[in-house]
Amino acid sequence: SRTLNLAIIPGDGIGPEVVAEAVKVLDAVASRQGFSIQKKHYALGAEHWLETGETLSDEVLNQLKDHDAILFGAVGADPRSSTIPSGLIEREILLKLRFAFDHFINLRPSRLFPGAVSPLSNPGDIDFVVVREGTEGPYAGNGGALRQGTEAEIATEVSVNTAYGVERLIRYAFELANSRARKKLTLIHKTNVLTNSGQLYTRIFDRVAAEYPEVSTDYCHIDAATIYLTTEPSRFDVIVTDNLFGDILTDQAGAVTGGIGLAACGNINASRQFPSMFEPVHGSAPDIAGQEKANPIASILASAMLLRHVGEEESAQIIEAAVEKDLKENATHERTTGDIGSSIVTLVENA
Ligand code: NAD
Ligand code: IPM
Ligand code: MN
Repeated sequence: SRTLNLAIIPGDGIGPEVVAEAVKVLDAVASRQGFSIQKKHYALGAEHWLETGETLSDEVLNQLKDHDAILFGAVGADPRSSTIPSGLIEREILLKLRFAFDHFINLRPSRLFPGAVSPLSNPGDIDFVVVREGTEGPYAGNGGALRQGTEAEIATEVSVNTAYGVERLIRYAFELANSRARKKLTLIHKTNVLTNSGQLYTRIFDRVAAEYPEVSTDYCHIDAATIYLTTEPSRFDVIVTDNLFGDILTDQAGAVTGGIGLAACGNINASRQFPSMFEPVHGSAPDIAGQEKANPIASILASAMLLRHVGEEESAQIIEAAVEKDLKENATHERTTGDIGSSIVTLVENA
C-alpha cells in the first residue's frame, strides 16, 4: 500500500505542541484508511539557531526537497529565547522555504464551522478561501536603509510584482472559483494608491476573467475589505490578493471564524516541482507557549489540506468531519491542547 513520505518541522513556541496533535490525527487516519506515513522530523527554529548559528542550511533544504509534503508548525519568538534578531528565524526558515520551493499559492480557507463561536454578533454563513500570493510583493526582500540611525534615514521596501507571478496566481484563483458552487472571485488590492502593481493585477484579472464567463467578479480595496470582512463576511467566496494584504486579511479572517487557532494554510507549489508545505496561519504564540492552551485544530486542518494535496481526499474529509463534529460538541468548553487532539483522534478512529 501507499507510503506518504512526510517532513515535519515543528519549530518554536506552540509549533511543536500543535504539530504533535496533528501527527496523532494523521497516524489515526492513515491506519484507518490503510496507508502508512514515513515521518522525518527536522529540528529547525530558534533553539537550533541558538545552538548552531544556523537557520536552514542548503543541505537540509536539499533533504526537504525529497519529501512528498512538509508539515510545518510555527517559527519565531519563543519564550526560551529573547536574544533572536526580530524576524530572522521567520525570514531564513519559513520565507526561505516558500521562495526555494516556489510556493506561489498561499491558500487560506476560512469557514465558520457550526458550533465555532464568532466574535461577530451576526456572522452569517462564512465560507471563503483567500488565494494569497506567496513569493512576491514586499516579501521579495528588495529595499534597504540609507544613512541608518541618523535623522536623515531613508528606509525602503520595494514590492516586486511580475506579470508571470500575478498571472499564475490569478489563473489559480479563477480555476478555484470556477470549481466552487458560488463561482465568485473578488480581487482585493489598493489600486487607488499602489498604481503600478494595481494596474498589473487589474489588467491580468480582467483578461483572465474573459476566459471564465461563469465566474462573477468584483473588486474591493483592502481597507474596505476589512470592513466587509467584519460586517458581511458571507459576501466572499474566493478572494485573490497579494502577499502582504493576504497576510493581514487572513489573520482577520481567522478571528471572525472563531479564532486564529482554527485557521489553516497551504503553501502550494502548484506545478508540483517541489513539495508543498502545510501549516497553521498563526505563529509561535509565545504568550501561551508551554501552557497547553494552544488550539491544535489549525494544524490538524492543515494536515487535512496536506492529505488532499497528495491525493488522499477521503482521509482529508474524515479529518474535516471529525473537526466539525468536535467543534459542534465542544467549541465553547475550556480544553487543553491535548484534550482537543485526543477528541479528534477518537472521532477519526470511529469515523
Ligand atoms: P501569533 O499568531 O503567534 O499570535 C497572535 C495571537 O493569537 C496571540 O495572542 C496568540 O496567543 C494567539 N494564538 C495563536 N495561535 C493560537 C492557537 N493555536 N490557539 C490559541 N491562540 C493562538 O502572532 P504573533 O504574536 O504576532 O507572532 C509570534 C511569533 O510568531 C513572531 O515571531 C512571528 O513572526 C511568528 N509568526 C510565525 C508564523 C509562522 O511560522 N508561520 C506565522 C505568524 C507569526
Ligand atoms: C504568516 C506569517 C508570515 C508571513 C511571517 C512569519 C513571515 O505571518 O505565515 O502569515 O508574513 O507570511
Ligand atoms: Mn501572518
